[in-house]
Amino acid sequence: MLVACFSVLSLSLSHCRYALGMEDNRIKDEAITASSQWYETTGPQYGRFNSEEGDGAWCPKGQLEPSDTQYLQVDLGRLTFLTVVGTQGRYARNSGNEYARAYRLNYSRDGVLWKSWRNRLGNAVIEGNKNAYQSVINDIHPPIITRYIRVIPVTKLSTTVCMRVELYGCLWDEGLISYSAPEGQLMQQPGHPIANFSDSTYDGVNERRRLSGGLGQLTDGVIGLDNFLQARQYHVWRGYDYLGWRNDSLGTQGHVEMEFVFDRQRNFTSMKVHSNNMFSQGVKIFSSVSCWFKPRLIAAWEPEPVTFMTVLDDRNPSARYVTVPLNRRTAKSLRCRFYFADVWMMFSEVSFQSGNTHKHTHTFISQQKIYLLILFSSEPPDDGNTPILIGCLVTIILLLIIIIFLILWCQCVCKVLEKVKTQTADETEGCPANSDPHYERVFLLDPQYQNPAVLRNKLPELSQSAEASACGGGYAEPDVTQCTPHQCFHSNAPHYAETDIVRLQGVTGSNMYAVPALTVDSLTRKDISAAEFPRQQLIFREKLGEGQFGEVHLCEAEGLPEFLGEGSPLPDRDCLSVLVAVKQLRADATNQARNDFLKEIKIMSRLNDPNIIRLLCVCVTSDPLCMVTEYMENGDLNMFLSQREIESTLTHANNIPSVSLSDLLHMSVQIASGMKYLASLNFVHRDLATRNCLLDRRLTIKIADFGMSRNLYSSDYYRIQGRAVLPIRWMAWESILLGKFTTASDVWAFGVTLWEIFTLCKEQPYSLLSDEQVIENTGEFFRNQGRQIFLYAPPLCPPSLFELMMRCWRRDIPDRPTFEGLYQALRPHVNQ
Ligand SMILES: *[C@@H]1O[C@H](CO)[C@@H](O)[C@H](O)[C@H]1NC(C)=O
Ligand SMILES: *[C@@H]1O[C@H](CO)[C@@H](O)[C@H](O)[C@H]1NC(C)=O
Ligand SMILES: *[C@@H]1O[C@H](CO)[C@@H](O)[C@H](O)[C@H]1NC(C)=O
Ligand SMILES: *[C@@H]1O[C@H](CO)[C@@H](O)[C@H](O)[C@H]1NC(C)=O
Repeated sequence: MLVACFSVLSLSLSHCRYALGMEDNRIKDEAITASSQWYETTGPQYGRFNSEEGDGAWCPKGQLEPSDTQYLQVDLGRLTFLTVVGTQGRYARNSGNEYARAYRLNYSRDGVLWKSWRNRLGNAVIEGNKNAYQSVINDIHPPIITRYIRVIPVTKLSTTVCMRVELYGCLWDEGLISYSAPEGQLMQQPGHPIANFSDSTYDGVNERRRLSGGLGQLTDGVIGLDNFLQARQYHVWRGYDYLGWRNDSLGTQGHVEMEFVFDRQRNFTSMKVHSNNMFSQGVKIFSSVSCWFKPRLIAAWEPEPVTFMTVLDDRNPSARYVTVPLNRRTAKSLRCRFYFADVWMMFSEVSFQSGNTHKHTHTFISQQKIYLLILFSSEPPDDGNTPILIGCLVTIILLLIIIIFLILWCQCVCKVLEKVKTQTADETEGCPANSDPHYERVFLLDPQYQNPAVLRNKLPELSQSAEASACGGGYAEPDVTQCTPHQCFHSNAPHYAETDIVRLQGVTGSNMYAVPALTVDSLTRKDISAAEFPRQQLIFREKLGEGQFGEVHLCEAEGLPEFLGEGSPLPDRDCLSVLVAVKQLRADATNQARNDFLKEIKIMSRLNDPNIIRLLCVCVTSDPLCMVTEYMENGDLNMFLSQREIESTLTHANNIPSVSLSDLLHMSVQIASGMKYLASLNFVHRDLATRNCLLDRRLTIKIADFGMSRNLYSSDYYRIQGRAVLPIRWMAWESILLGKFTTASDVWAFGVTLWEIFTLCKEQPYSLLSDEQVIENTGEFFRNQGRQIFLYAPPLCPPSLFELMMRCWRRDIPDRPTFEGLYQALRPHVNQ
């Protein structure tokens, strides 16, 4: 399994590795030029990878001397993110023996100004071929953003050189062609430097302490680690990944001004700035940013800026992407002022989302391609074997084509079958037919549709047609609502989902479990099976978090073990006092909040499972109302994982906190086990995510839902008209579109939770999509026309496990696994 994992890892480390078309002629002959050529038959157009045309390669004129600069130039036609270069010598069916032992790269975005490439350590020379037949593939670190590229062979001795070349990368659809910024600074203690936050790969000019006209570390695709003193590369200095500034070094202005220039006019939806937040060292994300727009290069800045205030975060020191909405303003160039929130501000990446840019297509096929090529290039073809080798290759390719054809055909047939099935189901069960074309255009993007009630009233088509498809499926769970579907969608009375969504925040900002037919009036002391604890024996230690109507405190509970007596779930029964978490309702809480709080107590007091947080006791005879639960020393799973790396010799050597793959699997099983228990009671959690899984001292996971997570993870929730907050990135499509929360939608969230675990919580789900795009994507899940975007397979994740995740995200509820099934499927992995 590990081997499988690491091969997957090595394949998907960098997604952008398409062959750009030297070999398959997508790059036309006219686009390939050279400084010189030996004969007609060794002209630049013969410098194509794996091609034996002409005399089998491009060769510059005469012997190449060490002082010569000869080059093969390729015009890629558009700005390209170049990540890999492959080279071969002149083989010419075993008659050639010329190759380049080393080469350099020059590149130009405009065809006028040429820059020479250097790797992260400052070396320009790349090792090339060792013989005429093997191909050599070199990763280009840092990658190059360019349109024109020159491959310049270099030699130590006078020799003839011939080359064939392929370039790999992808379209640079962000279109950023340069940024300017104040130069990065040095962090020092009196006498000695701690870290250097310069932009070491910047390819523009540095004049009067300002960088301009180039691109560098902010666009190299490498995001910095939580600790800015560590770097992702070896042999580089501290602070390498970040470009950083100190607030007092830029005069008294308190901000950093950056300018961004693009290839053409674009409509910007957002900007993402990856920023460090190690507040213990005086580093924080920016407190606010203002951006001005310029429609053309020669024009005045439009007077009205877009200003965005961030939510500062003093709890989670993780580096993160801060998304700045740019309100679809049109510009060719942007000027942004980032305001300091602390002494230091550090960025490692900046990216822009504009118009309709599409990414992530065909990725896997071209990765395969590189892979095959490496496999087959390691054997020198001698003449006797060449036909056999070619035969093998052809067979393999034919087999692949057949397999691909079979898969496509199968998908096609399955779709047709499925359609037939749904239609029959619709008719037999008397549901309205799913025929209304209007739902095609339904998006929740329009602000007036962001309120589910409005959406439902205005667009009964959507509800009906979605209903129709759900009808065939049949929900397994008892519905929380008691009204019939038609009442739900057509009467003016609010639908259950809406009232529930508004109250999703629950008491201290946390969710409620949905329980069928629980009336608040019937709640009395006798419904609460937890014992009343003397309030004066709770000794306040510190505040753990707060929500809208309450707070969570860390307290010492004197005499609690004795109080609970036999069967106490506490680990240390002999202690006099133990640490507990106390969730407390504020005195000014509304009646609604009060009832919700009692309801939550009632539900929690009935839950008894090793993987669900335990309610120990309560204080409800007097105000403020309190519930006392176990205290989980290791905090929540999200923070726990995001501060760790996967175990390796490197983490051992450097004492970096780490987890192993089997730890991750063990965590997954525990969550599945807790959810299995909830499902057996027909409880719907509604907000399963790593932020709601807590870890105790022994790393046992307990599922909880504390309000304290809300402030910390506010970016995980989506606000509907300032009222409800919804964890949309974890929610099933039917929960978002129809307000339908069931165990099956918990299963969906479990899949996302698994995904978080195997990305070590380094990234928010669908981090490239804005909230609106996530909701748009939900519509695609509903329509099911193959346009929905799924979360990608985390590199660490065994393929079988990713398959399990994908099953959690099936459109039709009966196709999703149950928690029992998930638990059974996951458990065997742990014992391996
Ligand atoms: C490569 O770029 C450097 C500038 O960095 C320039 O001086 C040199 O002339 C270029 N060489 C070629 C062959 O383009
Ligand atoms: C910081 O690193 C840059 C290279 O990116 C170097 O030019 C500069 O001299 C360094 N500053 C100090 C003070 O070492
Ligand atoms: C820099 O930040 C510190 C801490 O926030 C603040 O005390 C100081 O006044 C700031 N200096 C300037 C020049 O803004
Ligand atoms: C940007 O959006 C506006 C409407 O919002 C549209 O008229 C314009 O054509 C768009 N421009 C580009 C470059 O897409």
